[in-house]
Amino acid sequence: MKLGILTGGGDCPGLNPVIRAAVRTSIREGYKIIGIRNGWKGLVEAETFDLDATSVSGIIHRGGTILGTSRTNPYKDPGATEKAKANFKKLELDALITVGGEDTLGVANKFYKDGLPVVGVPKTIDNDLSGTDVTFGFDTAVNIAMEAIDRLHSTAESHRRIMVVEVMGRHAGWIALHSGIAGGADLILIPEVPIKMKEVVEVIQKRIERGKFFSIIVVAEGAKFDGSEVLLEKKLDEFGHVRLGGIGELLAKKIEDTTKLETRTAVLGHIQRGGSATAYDRVLGTRFGEKAVQLVKKGEFGKMVALRGTEIVSIAIEDAVKKLKTVEPDYYDMARTFFG
Ligand code: F6P
Repeated sequence: MKLGILTGGGDCPGLNPVIRAAVRTSIREGYKIIGIRNGWKGLVEAETFDLDATSVSGIIHRGGTILGTSRTNPYKDPGATEKAKANFKKLELDALITVGGEDTLGVANKFYKDGLPVVGVPKTIDNDLSGTDVTFGFDTAVNIAMEAIDRLHSTAESHRRIMVVEVMGRHAGWIALHSGIAGGADLILIPEVPIKMKEVVEVIQKRIERGKFFSIIVVAEGAKFDGSEVLLEKKLDEFGHVRLGGIGELLAKKIEDTTKLETRTAVLGHIQRGGSATAYDRVLGTRFGEKAVQLVKKGEFGKMVALRGTEIVSIAIEDAVKKLKTVEPDYYDMARTFFG
């Protein structure tokens, strides 16, 4: 049996643990495994290299992906999908392990329907994939954001400032909500719930009334102001995504204009994705990578590994990508208890 493995989309802490686990499990099963470079681009261009125990030694603690990644969408170009399918044959692959978020797995699902034996592993710091309780990378991103929020507390308090912290997460508020809860933020703003300036100002004023002259506001990059997302760039990527960013700065200005209180913004950006994974994500990635090879062994193609409770299960890739997993209103309402 010969397997290929690729990582697509934005990089994410925990990718190397997944790759290491898939390689070590393949060795256990007596399979050959090759790495496909730079996501789907590498399959289209047949850019591959052999993987063995040595190539994955010492990588569990390393951030990024030893395979490289890209946001290439082969389904944008019929020629590219044909090349990818031809290369799959030419490389004499029996199965393909695809590690990615909604975009990469969406493509994996299309290739599966076009006849390729594909399995998926859910990756994204945004935690917005359905069908799995959590994706690897999320825990690391939340911890990085939480540590930043902890640090911002002391500077905000010393200067009696309002500090707006913009975090990633695209159209889902998971990173904002979890880092905000864990970091004791005074207000958390997420894409799922439109921002109301009245509420923002009330929170700040309520705190001043009880002698708290600073506030920490965590805002998700996809949070909507006056019904619209704030964009860094309108240009769409190959999967039709715009580049979000700027809500933190916009909100800080509105707050300063309305309250006359000194306000600053911290944009965490790609720091949330860089560097090594937490122990939780390394273990989850390891379990996902091991299970992905088991799915190949059992011929469970078109499936994705998923975490349900404490178990690693398999679900149809289709079910994971058909709807984004966003924050439920009840969950957000629970967090409101701690605002102000
Ligand atoms: O999907 C992961 C993510 O980090 C999002 O949270 C963010 O909106 C996007 O990727 C940023 O993409 P890029 O790395 O292409 O700037």
